[in-house]
Amino acid sequence: MLSIAVFFRTYGCQANVADSEGLALYLNGLGCTLADSEEDADLIIVNSCAVRAKAEQKMFSYLGSLAQYKKKKPYMRIGMIGCVASYRKKEVYDRYDHVSFVYGARENMGTFQTYLADLIVRISTAKQFFAEDKKIPASLKGQDRLISAWKDRKVTLFPKRSSAAVLDVVQKPQTHLAQKAYINITTGCDNYCTYCIVPFTRGREESYPLKELVERAQTEVTRGAREIHLVGQNVNSYKDPVTGEGFAQLLEGIAQIEGQFWIRYVSPHPKDMTNDVLDMMAAHSPKICAWVHLPLQAGSTRVLDVMGRTYTKERFLEQVQEIRKRMPHVTITTDIIVGFPSETDAEYLETREVMEIVKFDHIFSFIYSPRKFTKAFSMEDSVSAEEKSARLTNLQKRQQMISLECNSKWVDKELLVLVEKPIVGGYLARTEGNIRLNISSDESDLTGTFVYPRVTSANVAHLSGVVLKKIEKNIDKSCQPFLKQV
Ligand code: SAH
Ligand code: SF4
Ligand code: F3S
Repeated sequence: MLSIAVFFRTYGCQANVADSEGLALYLNGLGCTLADSEEDADLIIVNSCAVRAKAEQKMFSYLGSLAQYKKKKPYMRIGMIGCVASYRKKEVYDRYDHVSFVYGARENMGTFQTYLADLIVRISTAKQFFAEDKKIPASLKGQDRLISAWKDRKVTLFPKRSSAAVLDVVQKPQTHLAQKAYINITTGCDNYCTYCIVPFTRGREESYPLKELVERAQTEVTRGAREIHLVGQNVNSYKDPVTGEGFAQLLEGIAQIEGQFWIRYVSPHPKDMTNDVLDMMAAHSPKICAWVHLPLQAGSTRVLDVMGRTYTKERFLEQVQEIRKRMPHVTITTDIIVGFPSETDAEYLETREVMEIVKFDHIFSFIYSPRKFTKAFSMEDSVSAEEKSARLTNLQKRQQMISLECNSKWVDKELLVLVEKPIVGGYLARTEGNIRLNISSDESDLTGTFVYPRVTSANVAHLSGVVLKKIEKNIDKSCQPFLKQV
């Protein structure tokens, strides 16, 4: 059987990244390899995001552009998965003849895997015909579209990385997979924030068993992962389906795995952020990274209420204090939406006020985008498009200065970082707080190691530094987040 090369294009959040990674491993188990580009692929899988209209449009224009590749290779298959696939399946089939399958994020993963196993055999057979210059039989060229009923996604997908072949795939430089393992700890979301489509595209919230998650993390660490990312729409509502253990226990279980690696998680919901999670982070510092991505969304308690977030501005600010009390060197990042229907100028200024008080290290900020199915979709929107843009520009401008201020405080300090990859003149690394740090170095083997650079300069988006020493011992025993202040 001819080997099949698969190319993934993944939009959206880390839940999608984790899903693509899981599928890449599954396909590798079927003998597939990862392609470096669309040109090299026999199968292209587009993992879609529905969170904002713009994200969807970008994905659709990319999907349209893929037709050219299929013209050159008639045996090629192109498919779409993820969140847009959850609710625009028919439309995609109608509009794009070159798309062979559309499989939604809330559908049964087992069914999809069975379909893929069959598809791989068909592509491989058709590829053989093509290679021998023979006419590909119509039965192998067909769309083989799979339209199954929407079912709740089953808690089944934990691909095992058991063979050396898997390592070949995960170490391909094209992917992030070499060092980072993204593990979905929950799927779906039950919060129904009034602006958000995710509960509709991913279905009800379910947690995977703690024991399986720890085993999966152990496998990742054994095969060389340096960062374990625990992923979910609302990670701190994690609850083991059997024992009822919560997110703090899960963090503990993973932190107890022997080895030199970091643990990160996204995203916690402020309504579920409890001190036992923060205590666990502090107890296992720096193995559990001192980085909290705590999505604020809006600074006004009234707007938060209409958004269905169920916390107040004051409660959010208290949580920030609790975090900083336990981890003084913590990095705090957030998500903010401006221009939610009915947000007044004064309410927008409350978001700005929270920014001034917290001084987030980094912000992901968005203009509110009306999404089908959501409650806010039918809310009257009194804020003009110009006003929304003006608020976003104003917010981002101020945040740039705050980020610079936050980053500048690391200058002249020695920081623990994980080296991600070589770049011109050195390496790209990341701090415990998830800040990019460019290292000037002519050493040849730093990728995947923990080092202590001295930070020499800072700008809005990243730090620069020079390496002082490598870390040989286990980071959870030997390291402080930063060694000394000069
Ligand atoms: N589960 C995560 C968020 C997932 S979506 C959480 O609750 O934090 C990622 C971010 O996209 C959200 O935090 C929000 O800021 C933004 N977002 C979601 N829906 C949006 C919409 N309709 N318009 C603009 N931004 C939106
Ligand atoms: Fe969307 Fe809210 Fe769920 Fe996050 S918590 S995924 S914003 S509904
Ligand atoms: Fe996008 Fe789906 Fe994630 S809508 S943000 S990929 S859960």
